[in-house]
Amino acid sequence: MCGIVGYTGSGQAAPLLLEGLKRLEYRGYDSAGIAVLGDGEITVEKVSGKVAGLCEKTRDGAAVPGSTGIGHTRWATHGAPTDTNAHPHVSNDGRFAIVHNGIIENYAPLREELLARGYTFESETDTEIIVHLLEMYYEGDIKTAVMKTVARLEGSYGLGVLCSERPGTLFAVKEASPLILGVGVGENYFASDVTALVSYTKNAIYLDDGEFAELTPGGITVYDCSGRAIEKPVSRITWTVEAAEKGGYAHFMLKEIMEQPAAVRAAIAPRVRDGEIRLEDFDLTPEELHSFRKIVITACGSAYYAGCAGKYALESLCRIPVEVVLASELRYGDPLIDEQTLLIVLSQSGETADTIAAMKECRSRGAKVLAVVNVVGSTIAKSADWTLYTWAGPEIAVATTKGYTTQLVVLYLLAMDIARKLGKLEDDRYPALLYDMLRLPRLIQNAIDMNSGLPALAKKYHSSPSLFFIGRNTDWAVALEGALKMKEISYIHAESYAAGELKHGTIALIEENTPVIAVCCNEHLADKTISNIVEVKARGARVLAVAFREDRKIVAQANDVIFIPRIGTLFSPALAVIPLQLLAYYVARENGCDIDKPKNLAKSVTVE
Ligand code: G6P
Repeated sequence: MCGIVGYTGSGQAAPLLLEGLKRLEYRGYDSAGIAVLGDGEITVEKVSGKVAGLCEKTRDGAAVPGSTGIGHTRWATHGAPTDTNAHPHVSNDGRFAIVHNGIIENYAPLREELLARGYTFESETDTEIIVHLLEMYYEGDIKTAVMKTVARLEGSYGLGVLCSERPGTLFAVKEASPLILGVGVGENYFASDVTALVSYTKNAIYLDDGEFAELTPGGITVYDCSGRAIEKPVSRITWTVEAAEKGGYAHFMLKEIMEQPAAVRAAIAPRVRDGEIRLEDFDLTPEELHSFRKIVITACGSAYYAGCAGKYALESLCRIPVEVVLASELRYGDPLIDEQTLLIVLSQSGETADTIAAMKECRSRGAKVLAVVNVVGSTIAKSADWTLYTWAGPEIAVATTKGYTTQLVVLYLLAMDIARKLGKLEDDRYPALLYDMLRLPRLIQNAIDMNSGLPALAKKYHSSPSLFFIGRNTDWAVALEGALKMKEISYIHAESYAAGELKHGTIALIEENTPVIAVCCNEHLADKTISNIVEVKARGARVLAVAFREDRKIVAQANDVIFIPRIGTLFSPALAVIPLQLLAYYVARENGCDIDKPKNLAKSVTVE
């Protein structure tokens, strides 16, 4: 959740750390801090609130001279987002400063032990015990102190360590939290995310759990958990600086909505050759596919809703039962999963703690795991049996958009590929679906272009205290995502219901002028949803429908209509979601919300 960054080199560390923190802010933005080593002494500056406050306090880093340093942007777990709880934390003797991303589960007994030994605590964080343990175990050798310290820790940690006695040296430790080393020339870096590194280097080393590294300006040594130096490959970062910047857009979210045609094209095009889908990393034989009796999809948040939409395509085309289960429920649910289960794990970041735990639980029961992930080298990508990348490029806005649509199209490709291999598609169906698939990037662009009226519509709906989203089948799946987008960034209460279920309770909430957003893009069920539109209108609702271009029936019934290009039902969620994303964006803008960094949320949720 938190973002961490470290720098050692000949330049000034503070401006670089602040720059890195700005890029990592989407991981958490309750408070921020840096620690820089200059003239044998560690200087710490921290503030509650955003990184901009830290830049102001330190005059963009000029007030904190020194060429080795660490930085942190926080999403509070233990202790309120105050200046004292902000990282870095410093040992009582002032020798060590640390930044930490993750949670130390056994911090309470360790805190008791350290208090009994006379250490004093300044903060309420779980992290602070780490820096006191380092002081306790330090006898002149940092590496040994680091190893003894982490041996005492239970939980997850991406950890950066700075020691006043070793100018130019940083230690970085990884356990169940992302940590990447940036390999430079005469300078080296670490960060919890490649977006903080892309401005400085394209060469990265991905640490595995249990590994730690010693960084100096001249080199990086990686150690395994027993302290033995090991060789690690240097990977090339493919993301560009431009991709991680706003590029003239007011918000990352808007930029990422607009990038969807290109992102979806990048997910599809390389996987279609000679009129056939080729899934490079999931090239199973029909016999292997036949061995799966069911598919379970697990994920959190929007990725879960992508799974809900993808289920329809998988079940309808492959005729295999598909369950979509929230990762936070699956992990403790005693699931009926065995070696005949294909588990599909969806995650933009590849680091979501609940999703990782669900994956481990299912794997321990024998399931084979296919990951659909955006971030290359992430924990989920590395630990699955097969990984299909979504190739969406960096997604910075907390509320996902292109992450969601690319997950969807990868599920569609998968559904078509499995169905074909299992002989479940009639001969002419596959080319017809493929034709729609290849048109999707252009149709998404059309869906964006057709909705230039959304800012005006947002003005009609932005002051509503509550919004209802309805739809049936694939439309319901999109409605779920539309309601989540609205809640996340505009803070308006929004709920999604299967349209047919309304009359079994929720319709009691419909009053004069209650806004109902009705998704009607499922060609088989649109008429049924129209009946539900009529029902809510009879009770005073104001209906905004999402429908196919030229759908006259809808125009006759709804108060307002947002159009999308026509496409077959199975893939329609990839288009219907576009105006819902834009609606949420413009409503949030109308309400003056911090769109890219909504309150209380974080992009990558690495805690339970
Ligand atoms: C957080 C984000 C959501 C995201 C979810 C799953 O809750 O705020 O936008 O959908 O995590 O993230 P993942 O990286 O696993 O897709």
